[in-house]
Amino acid sequence: MKVGKKLLVVSAISGLLVTNIFANEDLVKQGEKIFTTNTKGNCIACHAISGKTLDGPGSFGPTLSGLSYWPEEELYKVIYDPYNTRGKITAMPAFGKSGWLSDSEIKAVIAFLKTIN
Ligand code: HEC
Repeated sequence: MKVGKKLLVVSAISGLLVTNIFANEDLVKQGEKIFTTNTKGNCIACHAISGKTLDGPGSFGPTLSGLSYWPEEELYKVIYDPYNTRGKITAMPAFGKSGWLSDSEIKAVIAFLKTIN
């Protein structure tokens, strides 16, 4: 079971490398929607974004900045399961592991996060 999950993550991450997600405007919009929709990612409940005006961000998590410099694999891992990625307890839910966001939804969110300087 554990190995199966690991393989799933690995194949999801390698999928990122073949799809060029950066240049895709629609994907960025879709990701922003997931970020701000409370029945989806609801990332906005905890995260403000540096340099962007968003309506009513929470401050439970850090203000997101400089994510355009993060490798997409790192972003995927944090969204999939922040606890195992960072090796410490965090208030951030494991969106991938818990099944709250699908693989393609996470990829859309990453496309949006890559626009954050
Ligand atoms: C319940 C609050 C909460 C929600 C909802 C949440 N996060 Fe987080 N997030 C956190 C906290 C707390 C941290 C800091 C984790 C740590 O201790 O390293 C964090 C860290 C991060 C980081 C790493 C930032 C950095 O500078 O180290 C990213 C990227 C991130 N979150 C993205 C997201 C995305 C994308 C979503 C929505 C799919 C989301 N978060 C939803 C609380 C949340």
